[in-house]
Amino acid sequence: MASNALPRAPEIEMRGVTMHYGGSAAALSRIDLDVREGEFLSIVGPSGCGKSTLLRLISGLQRPSGGSVRVRGEVVSGTPPELGFMFQRDALLPWATVRENIEVGLECGGYAKAGRGERLDELLAITGLREFGDAFPHALSGGMRQRVALARILAYEPGIFLMDEPFGALDAQTKVLMGQELLDIWGRHRKAVVFVTHDIEEAVSLSDRVIVMTGRPGRIRSNYEIELARPRDARKIRSDARFRDYVHAIWNDIVSEVGGPASRAH
Ligand SMILES: Nc1ncnc2c1ncn2[C@@H]1O[C@H](COP(=O)(O)OP(=O)(O)O)[C@@H](O)[C@H]1O
Ligand SMILES: [Mg+2]
Repeated sequence: MASNALPRAPEIEMRGVTMHYGGSAAALSRIDLDVREGEFLSIVGPSGCGKSTLLRLISGLQRPSGGSVRVRGEVVSGTPPELGFMFQRDALLPWATVRENIEVGLECGGYAKAGRGERLDELLAITGLREFGDAFPHALSGGMRQRVALARILAYEPGIFLMDEPFGALDAQTKVLMGQELLDIWGRHRKAVVFVTHDIEEAVSLSDRVIVMTGRPGRIRSNYEIELARPRDARKIRSDARFRDYVHAIWNDIVSEVGGPASRAH
């Protein structure tokens, strides 16, 4: 806990953020968003509404055309050191083993070589990869590769996690299992997470808050505080009546953005 009494700046603070690519119409328009300390925030919205752009602005990979982006109170210029990323494509080094791939995260996190072996064992255990340390990525399933990617960002110990559809390429069951692992790991560390997904159930099952964006230009359309008890069971929670209500409401928001008929209760 912070020892001084001053309120801390939000982990991420976006004010009036607008983004244009070249001369085209805005991709994002007037985004105001605070991500609180320890918060698990998901962003959903129609394809092309600027979700990935929003993450790139937070990460400093792109600059906003207007407005400001701050991470821990500092205007973003260059990649803030406290950020860790995870994308749909795992970006593992194909010629390196699982252990070596995870070690890259330790190296980036400034871990001394001497302490790495023990920490590697721990990370392999946390992510269920204990028996796969010497395997190469091509020998692993998509789910396993995403576990390695997860272990690598955990190795780095980022203060804030940015995740862009990290489980988007996985089959439905693996996705739920990975979501559960992420929940368990997050529950122990409670770092801020910004999680982009097109899967509404995944968003509701994991998050403290879900933001729905409008179609292009992306704006924030609605904001749901997900008041479901923790710790959560990512699978069982799906039959909870309040869970269904959140999913239903978010579905209707998205459907009205893409111009389809409102969904019926399911
Ligand atoms: N580098 C780029 N140059 C031009 N247009 C881009 C670029 N990246 C994204 N866009 C456009 O900006 C909009 C938002 O893209 P993106 O952030 O990838 O959306 P999402 O992740 O929600 O699908 C889209 O219309 C996309 O075509
Ligand atoms: Mg995207």
